[in-house]
Amino acid sequence: MSSTVAAVKTVTIPRAVERLVVGQPTSDGAGVKLTRVLTQPLQRRLDPFLMLDAFGSDKADDYIAGFPDHPHRGFETISYMLEGRMRHRDSAGHEGMISTGGVQWMTAGRGVIHSELPEQEEGRMEGFQLWLNLAAKDKMREPWYRDIPSAEVPEFEQEGVKVRVIAGESHGVQGAVQREHTEPVYLDIHLAPGARFEQALPDTHNVFVYVYRGALTFDTGCTVPAQRMALFANTPGSDGVALKAGEEGAKLILVAGKPLNEPIAQYGPFVMNTQAELMQAVRDFQTGQLV
Ligand code: CO
Repeated sequence: MSSTVAAVKTVTIPRAVERLVVGQPTSDGAGVKLTRVLTQPLQRRLDPFLMLDAFGSDKADDYIAGFPDHPHRGFETISYMLEGRMRHRDSAGHEGMISTGGVQWMTAGRGVIHSELPEQEEGRMEGFQLWLNLAAKDKMREPWYRDIPSAEVPEFEQEGVKVRVIAGESHGVQGAVQREHTEPVYLDIHLAPGARFEQALPDTHNVFVYVYRGALTFDTGCTVPAQRMALFANTPGSDGVALKAGEEGAKLILVAGKPLNEPIAQYGPFVMNTQAELMQAVRDFQTGQLV
């Protein structure tokens, strides 16, 4: 799905970059090497987002072990594959594959036990997993998931710009997924050298970008190099962000959402509102009643 729309100026009061964040190298699952870009100390600042992991390696040893069976409760996981293939199976009997350019959107709700395993033994595996919180009233809803193959991710182009709209809306193009309450916007943006792109956003949304190729430059002199997250200031009255690629172009994801402003209680793969709810989640998992 692709269309070309005219480049229009949509943002008059752009937000400034508030700070840059370097991710923390870590491993998760059965030993998958990844970079945790959005870590727990940023959960309040970037409400409703709880975590962003970036993974990317040409070495099978870094990813081959995958993520064997593990539980989730209380939020949504969004996996976006830039390159590679990963197979997913869950306790509700769902099975699917995400491959290059595809997305898997899973709402854990009251509980899911699933595995995410590489469907390749060599070659490059690169992508992101983003965790999006659920409102308190939705945390115990029924689980849901959808595989969105690359061809079903809406795209549009402007001069020197290609945008893939995973969630929300951009320049009149509706994304593959829409969500009430958190109103997430999730874009993969490819900018030619020096190209500019503007994204309108309510000033109440929290917003960040993660540059995975090239660099962004801002008229203020600020540069966001590859493998950096930039948080944008929540400037009252601002109407979006204005991006410009450096001389080598840029590829980045832009993620924005409306804060829930509810208590966040996390214990590993469970994210609830209170300690009591976390203890209940652990008990339900241990007694086989999570799902
Ligand atoms: Co998982």
